[in-house]
Amino acid sequence: MLFEKIAALMPGGEVKQGCFVGVRGGRIDYIGDTPPSQEYGERYDGRGKLLLPGFVNAHCHVPMVLLRGYAEDLPLDRWLNDKIFPAEEKLSGEAVYWGSFFGIAEMIRGGVTSFTEMYFFCEDIARAVLESGIKCNLSRGITCFDDSSLSELPSFSEARDLFERYHNSGDGRLYIDMCIHAEYTSTPKVVREMAEYAKSIGARMHIHLSETKAEHEGCRHRHGKTPAEYFASLGVFDVPCTAAHCVWVEEGDMDILAEKGVFVAHCPTSNLKLGSGIGPVARMLEKGVNVALGTDGAASNNSLDIFSEMKLAAILQKGAGCNPELMPVLDVLRMATLDGARSQGRQGSGEIKVGARADLAVVDLESIGMTPLHHVPSGLVYSAGSRDVVLTMCDGKVLYKDGEFLTIDIELVKSKVREFSKIFG
Ligand code: NI
Repeated sequence: MLFEKIAALMPGGEVKQGCFVGVRGGRIDYIGDTPPSQEYGERYDGRGKLLLPGFVNAHCHVPMVLLRGYAEDLPLDRWLNDKIFPAEEKLSGEAVYWGSFFGIAEMIRGGVTSFTEMYFFCEDIARAVLESGIKCNLSRGITCFDDSSLSELPSFSEARDLFERYHNSGDGRLYIDMCIHAEYTSTPKVVREMAEYAKSIGARMHIHLSETKAEHEGCRHRHGKTPAEYFASLGVFDVPCTAAHCVWVEEGDMDILAEKGVFVAHCPTSNLKLGSGIGPVARMLEKGVNVALGTDGAASNNSLDIFSEMKLAAILQKGAGCNPELMPVLDVLRMATLDGARSQGRQGSGEIKVGARADLAVVDLESIGMTPLHHVPSGLVYSAGSRDVVLTMCDGKVLYKDGEFLTIDIELVKSKVREFSKIFG
């Protein structure tokens, strides 16, 4: 495809007007002010439009769209134990498949080209990922409440099989990561064994970290360490790791995260909705911690919209820190794109440059929210929404264009989601 006369958000935040961007073989092959001499097939009239890197949702539980609006106004422990865990007992692989497809559709509509996922019935999620055309770092959530070894856990067998069967499948769109759900849902033995296993096969790790004050203080009580110190001592940060939330991390924890190159997946909507608190993101950035953005599951959000997370991430730090200079828009955009791609180990994605993967979104610059356009990056972070996305492309393949899904029968998926959501009563 050749995008013609389009504005493009370049690395560093410069907006280049009237660009020609050629895509071939899943990559950006040409960027110039004049038409290329080569042929790129279909032409896209980009006048009045902005081309930007696709967003990365760095922490999600995608089938939870089935539980959108199901458990409201509850603290995390009651939300989980009284509502979510009993509801998840009723899930089937088929329900997870349709729920995943629907959540993926929601993300594609909002310009998301990749997401980092932790759940179960992962084969069904993998099918939805591969069929929909999106990218995903998928992990089987591992919990352990007794003195089992990792190898005795059926969930670990699933994770291992998933890695062997699906890692790097779909032409590299689907990666399989390893996972420990959280400190409070596992044992030191299993955590250490999982870190060693992930290292031995070259996999990444995905965990929840210091989401609530109770979890953070409970860990100190149980192990004499903060969750970050605990996971570091067991080797989890010796492999590339995404740590969701990090709301209650302390100065020393941030030093560990920075030194180990851990990627924090900041999920501001979920943290506020569950009353977990406000993560010290501006401080983390100041200390050199990598931070990406996530939605968490739709049961605690209730949407999978990175535009909302960008705006909230920016204004929360400004408001909580009484400092409007915190979290400038280019930092926020980078968290939602390039740093998200880096958190997934997807080097060569998340930027518009020749040779990068063609994981792209197009936003209408003539919508109400984007008019007038004094500063395009500000428009994206503060005024735009999923409604302004007019095209989403992953690995050079168009998945969504002008309100239509090209790989998803959205009416069928929606009706299946309505049907399967009835299992919760
Ligand atoms: Ni989560």
